[in-house]
Amino acid sequence: MKPEAEKILITSALPYANGPLHFGHIAGAYLPGDCYARFQRLMGKDVLYLCGSDEHGVAITLSAEMAKRSPKEHVDLFHQTNKNFFEQLEFSFDHYSRTTWPGHIPTTQEFYRALDEKGMIDEKTEDHLYSEQEKRFLADRYVVGTCPKCGYDQARGDECQRCASSYEATDLKNPRSKLTGSPLVLKPSNHLYLRFDKFKEKLSSWIKGKKWKDNVVHFAMQYINDLKPRAITRDSSWGVEVPNHPGKVFYVWFDAPIGYVSAAKEWAEKLGSPDRWKDYWLNPNCKLVHFIGKDNIPFHAVFFPAMLMGQDLPYKLPDEVPANEFYMLEGRQFSKSEGWTIDLEDFFTRYTPDQARYAIAANAPETSDSEFSWKDFQMRCNSELLGKLGNFVNRVLVFAKQHCNSQVPKISHVDEAFEKQMSELVEQAAQSYDQFHLRKASQTLMELCQAGNGYFDAKKPWVLAKDPSRRSELDNTIAYSIQCIKNIALLSSPIIPDSAQKIWHMLGYSSELAKGNWNEISKSFVPVGQKLNEPVILFRKVEDEEILLQVQKLGEKLKEVKEVTTTTYQPLKDPITFETFEKIDLRVAQVLEAVKVPKSKKLLKLLVDVGFEKRTIVSGIALSYEPEQLVGKKVVIVANLAPATIMGIESQGMILAASLEKSLELPQIQNLAPGSSVS
Ligand code: MF3
Ligand code: ZN
Repeated sequence: MKPEAEKILITSALPYANGPLHFGHIAGAYLPGDCYARFQRLMGKDVLYLCGSDEHGVAITLSAEMAKRSPKEHVDLFHQTNKNFFEQLEFSFDHYSRTTWPGHIPTTQEFYRALDEKGMIDEKTEDHLYSEQEKRFLADRYVVGTCPKCGYDQARGDECQRCASSYEATDLKNPRSKLTGSPLVLKPSNHLYLRFDKFKEKLSSWIKGKKWKDNVVHFAMQYINDLKPRAITRDSSWGVEVPNHPGKVFYVWFDAPIGYVSAAKEWAEKLGSPDRWKDYWLNPNCKLVHFIGKDNIPFHAVFFPAMLMGQDLPYKLPDEVPANEFYMLEGRQFSKSEGWTIDLEDFFTRYTPDQARYAIAANAPETSDSEFSWKDFQMRCNSELLGKLGNFVNRVLVFAKQHCNSQVPKISHVDEAFEKQMSELVEQAAQSYDQFHLRKASQTLMELCQAGNGYFDAKKPWVLAKDPSRRSELDNTIAYSIQCIKNIALLSSPIIPDSAQKIWHMLGYSSELAKGNWNEISKSFVPVGQKLNEPVILFRKVEDEEILLQVQKLGEKLKEVKEVTTTTYQPLKDPITFETFEKIDLRVAQVLEAVKVPKSKKLLKLLVDVGFEKRTIVSGIALSYEPEQLVGKKVVIVANLAPATIMGIESQGMILAASLEKSLELPQIQNLAPGSSVS
C-alpha cells in the first residue's frame, strides 16, 4: 500500500462580496495560491484548496443601502460575479464557499463559546452613536461629522479625509448619519471584547520559529507586542448572531477567518463525508498555508491564530503565510470609481485566461508592489508565450509531422548535457513553486523554452533531413526536443493550465496533465512511437494597435469619470460698476444666539451684534451648521439689505456664505470688533 500523501490545506483570503474583483486582487492572494495548489497536486500532495465570499460587515451593509439593495441581494450578486471571475480565470478551488451559508453560524458561535469558556471574553458597556430617527446604533462608516482636529464638517467616522487624523466616531462634533443626515446621540451599548492580550506569550513563542518573509514577521511582532482586548461584536442585524445578545452580531473580522473552517465543513458535506474537514483542520501533519495580501497580515498572523489557540479542538495553526504586496494598473491603484480599470468582459473576448495568468505570474508583486501595464502584457504574450514557448512547440511538432511521420522517434544516443540542463531547470522550477516564488518559476519556464530553442537551432535538423545517413541524429534531435516540450508542459501547467493541457494532448497523451505526477512525468520519456496529434497554435500575436487602443480607452475613461464628477460652478453674473458695489454695506457681526426655525430644515434664526445695535437674521445655513457651533463666531453681513419676512420672522440683514454645490461655509473674522466695515 502506498503511504498516505502529505496533506496541505491552502486558503486564499476570502474576498468581500462587495464589488467585482479585478487583476489587482488576483495578483496578490489568488493566482499565487492557485499556482501553488496546482503545483502541490502535481507533487502528489493531498491538497484542499479553499476560498469563498466574505459576506458580512458594515462595508457591505453600507454599500448595499447606497445601492438600494438588501444586504442579501448585494452579496448574492457579488458572490456570483466573483465566483464567475475565478472560473473564467481557471481557478482550481476545491470549494468556493460563502460566509452566509448556514453551517457558518454554528461554527462561528462554537469558536466564541470555546473562547468564552476559557475566560477570554469580557463584556463592557460603552457609549456608542445612536440615531433616534433610524432607531439604530451606527458604526463609524455610517457616521459623518466635524473633525475634532481641523474642524472639517464632512469628516468620516474613522478618519478625517482633510487632515488625515484618526479618532473614534464618538470624538466627532455634530455626528450625523451618513445616509439620512439625522443627528446622532450617545447611548450606552454593551459589547464583547476578546482578550487578545492574554495570547501574547503563546503567540510570540509560536511565531519565533517561523521562517516567513521578514515583513510578515516584523509586522506581526509589532501587533503582538501591543495586543489589547478588541471588540468582537457590533450592533447590527447583518452578520452571525451573538448567542444571548439580541441585536448583536460578530464583527466581520471575527467570523470571516472562521470561514476557512466552515468552508472545509461545507466541502466535506457536499462530498457526503461530513467529517473529512477534520483530516485537514485537526490533523497535526497537515500543512496550513494562507495566501493573503499584505493588508491582511495582522489578521492571519496574529488574531486568527490566537482564536485558534483558544479552541478546545486541536486546530492547526498556519504554517505559512505568503503575503504579497500590491498590484497596480499602469502606475496607479485600480479604481473602479475613477475608471482606472480593465474592462474584464471586453478583456476575455480578446485574450485568454492563460495570457492573463502568465502576465500576472511573471510580474507577481512578491517583494515589492508591481503593476499590470498593457505594454508589459503585450511583451509577455508576444516575446515570451508566443516567441519562446509557442514557437518552440510549434516548430518541433511541425517538423516531427513532416519528417517523423507524427511519431515520437527513437533515442539512439544519450545527450547528457541537454538532459542535465533540463532536469536542473525542472528542479529549479519545483523549488520556486514550493517556496512561493512565482516570478522565478515563470522565468525558469522561459529558460527551459530557450534551452529547447537553442538545442534545436544547434542541431539543425533541417540540415540533417537532407542527408539520409544522418537519420538517427535527426531522430535523436526530435526525440529530445519532444522531451523538452513535455517538460515545458509540466512546468507551465500551474500557471497556464489550458495551454499546458493542449501541449500534452499534442504530444499524443489522452490523460489529464493536471492529474499526473511531477516526478514521474519529469523523469520518464515520452514513449517511442507515440502518435503525435496535429499541432495547434497556442498563442496569437497581440498587435500594437490593440494595445494602443486599450491604453487610449484607459485614459478616456479616466477623463469621462473626471468630467462626470467635475464640480458645477455658478455662471458669472453681469458686470457692475464700483459705484454699485460701494452701495452694499458689509459689516462684521457677532452671533449671540442661534436657534433652529421650527418646521424648517434649512433655516436658523440668529441674534447678532453689529456693534451699534443687535439684529435678528434668518439664514439658510442649518444643513451645514448646528446652532451651538455658531454662537460667538464673527461673520460678515449685508447690513443695509431691506428687511424681509421669512417664515413669519423679520430678517434684518443677510449673512455672507461661500458655497459650492452642496457645501457651505461662512467666512469669519478673527480679531476685529463687531460693527467693523468690510469692503
Ligand atoms: N475580506 C477580506 C479582504 O478582502 C479578507 C478576509 S480573509 C479572512 O480584505 F480570513 F477573513 F477570511
Ligand atoms: Zn480633520
